Amino acid sequence: MSVNKPLPHDAAELHVTGAARYVDDMPVPADCLHLAFGLSPVAHGVLKSVNLEAVRAAPGVIAVLTADDLPASNDVSPSAHDEPLLATDKVNYVGQPVFLVAATSHALARKAAQKAVYDIEELTPVLTIEDALAAKDEFEEPLLFSKGDAQSALETAPHRLSGSINIGGQEHFYLESHAALVMPQEDGDMLVHSSTQHPTEIQHKVAEAIGKPFHAVRVEIRRMGGGFGGKESQGNALACACAVVSLRLNRPAKMRYDRDDDMTITGKRHDFRIDYDVGFDADGKIQAIDFTQYCRGGWAQDLTLPVADRAMLHADNTYHLPHARIVSHRLRTNTVSNTAYRGFGGPQGIVGMERVIDHIAHHLKRDPLEIRQANYYAPTGQTTPYQMEVTDSVIAEITDALTKSSDYQNRRAKVDAFNAENTILKRGLALTPVKFGISFTLTFLNQAGALVHIYADGSIKLNHGGTEMGQGLFTKVAQVAATIFAQPLSAVKITATDTAKVPNTSATAASSGSDLNGMAVKDACETIKKRLIGFVAEKWNADPALIRFIDGNVETGKKTLTFAEVIAAAYENRISLSATGFYATPKIQWDRKEGKGRPFFYFAYGAAVTEVVIDTLTGENRILRTDIIHDVGKSLNPALDIGQIEGAYVQGAGWLTTEELVWDDKGKLWTHAPSTYKIPACSDRPEVFNVALFDQGENTEDTIYRSKAVGEPPFNLGISAFLALSDAVAACGDGSVYPDLQAPATGEQVLRAVLRQQGQEL
Ligand code: MTE
Ligand code: MOS
Repeated sequence: MSVNKPLPHDAAELHVTGAARYVDDMPVPADCLHLAFGLSPVAHGVLKSVNLEAVRAAPGVIAVLTADDLPASNDVSPSAHDEPLLATDKVNYVGQPVFLVAATSHALARKAAQKAVYDIEELTPVLTIEDALAAKDEFEEPLLFSKGDAQSALETAPHRLSGSINIGGQEHFYLESHAALVMPQEDGDMLVHSSTQHPTEIQHKVAEAIGKPFHAVRVEIRRMGGGFGGKESQGNALACACAVVSLRLNRPAKMRYDRDDDMTITGKRHDFRIDYDVGFDADGKIQAIDFTQYCRGGWAQDLTLPVADRAMLHADNTYHLPHARIVSHRLRTNTVSNTAYRGFGGPQGIVGMERVIDHIAHHLKRDPLEIRQANYYAPTGQTTPYQMEVTDSVIAEITDALTKSSDYQNRRAKVDAFNAENTILKRGLALTPVKFGISFTLTFLNQAGALVHIYADGSIKLNHGGTEMGQGLFTKVAQVAATIFAQPLSAVKITATDTAKVPNTSATAASSGSDLNGMAVKDACETIKKRLIGFVAEKWNADPALIRFIDGNVETGKKTLTFAEVIAAAYENRISLSATGFYATPKIQWDRKEGKGRPFFYFAYGAAVTEVVIDTLTGENRILRTDIIHDVGKSLNPALDIGQIEGAYVQGAGWLTTEELVWDDKGKLWTHAPSTYKIPACSDRPEVFNVALFDQGENTEDTIYRSKAVGEPPFNLGISAFLALSDAVAACGDGSVYPDLQAPATGEQVLRAVLRQQGQEL
């Protein structure tokens, strides 16, 4: 069996030798044009005119296009048709594309784009969550999920606490910035190479931009150098820009964002403010909770509604909330249009809940772990705030295993002893759990297709709707095909995602890539296998029930045939060796307006213990040790899964600690390069990092080989780093003041919180 084995990523060697091809590495024809956008210097204003004379006259410039020059649709929005490719009468954020330059080189296009003279009548920008609330600028009416009677239960609870936490956004910082290359074909058709998680949406938006049916556009992507959600919708603009120029000039066109442009133009993780009011008993058991989540969407809707929905859907995390009221505001601001980012709002919702637990524990002077365990979902009979019964929780088992493997209780005592002895350095420890819902909440997206060919020599060519962004999807899906035919992985050729091979695909997102595409590929392979079994039974006079595919061979019960032999014979006997496959996730249904249903097929669980040390004089801090146990069901590939968990944890910890996005009061993003925006470096990984898969993991639902999705859930484990910092800060005073740490807990924030413990201000 190829599945369940820790096989290396199919492109690992190509990645490390630099031989892996990305869009920007593709050779381009000599007449290829290179594009750049001219960007709005103003966050909010009436666009009166742009003087483009100097741009047109700049060296190498072949064409300059404004909104008036577009042949068809001027919209790159994935949702609400509110996102013009090029600005028309208004500009809505600093960095909004206003015009398009096509030049003979990338550098000349960028230089020329700087030379525009804008006439913009500035309006007051709406920048923050508070600004948007004051301006009452929301994408839709606030959404409400309600269970029981939170208000009455809060009033009668023995203890009650309220508070608020600000949670910063996050830049994706995929190593490969956005890129697209469009080659015009005969009859005005377009071949698009795009670094995208969503080839079908690129196909749709490009077709609309050039005014053609979807069949005129073919989109291909072999791999991305990371996506993390940032390439679900944000690549539309580049692909449409290239297509429009290609159509107009009948020349290939290529566009890639420099890092600064990428960070300035594209959307990020939504920043949130979450207000809470919680009622609980003397043991910390929660009786009622009232959350208000405020979500900064930026200037266009993009994916803000489903992101905000997912934050609400994760407001409970692993805890049973008998009475709950969750309100969500989706706010419009004059900043980048925030978008999908690993966890898709879930992490923000979970931070809100974990913050409440931490606050309760501080109030009751108890270890937060006890409060967590007291509130975990029971194995059956309890429902979420959206009234789905939780029946697959393994969080109690994972927590027990992790407290043992991480030596939690002893280390708790050691940290306390360390803090009693040391005044300058303080340590902190926190265990946080995660429960993460798997499925797209837009139910119809939970479908996938595949196309499998077996050639006459027995080699297998595999295609499906998923995209590869480093997560290892292609390897896992190839393992599925290899397993069904009992072939070595090397017999399976992985090919680029291509809208001409598998149509109408969903984005590779919501961690569902292997769940959906793995099943679709299994379906296609089984179709072919069934034909082969019928053929072998007839030709070799065997009982179909006894025919087995084992170790590269086909055994009939009487004799052993090689796979190649069977395939060659099948071909000669005119048996079709190619099939499509399809899968649609069963059992799910969801009404987002009512806030009721079963949005998720199942949940993934995990927990992490993080120990940190802070310097109370500077606020500097490090992660000393992290222990993780995470549930991936029966792993399709333990090596890839552990890699996903490690990467997700570090990315999650980065979000809540060092990664800070700073806008000025004019709406300009100052942190638009790695010099000022601090993603974790290798040296920031935990000094001791123990990651294990939950050894009893098995999906109770019928997923691909009983595995569980792994892409996003472990991102939330980084929350333990944030709460370990809170724990260290709490040790700095007499214990009477709650640290009230805001995210990201940068060195400055930690120092501020330490001083507050000591009765001082920064
Ligand atoms: N891992 C790597 N190396 N690079 C990525 O861009 N994206 C994450 C996660 N892991 C990502 C990654 C996100 S946001 C998602 S939704 C999933 O991978 C998507 O892939 P999957 O559905 O195949 O897990
Ligand atoms: Mo992931 S945020 O669903 O692309």
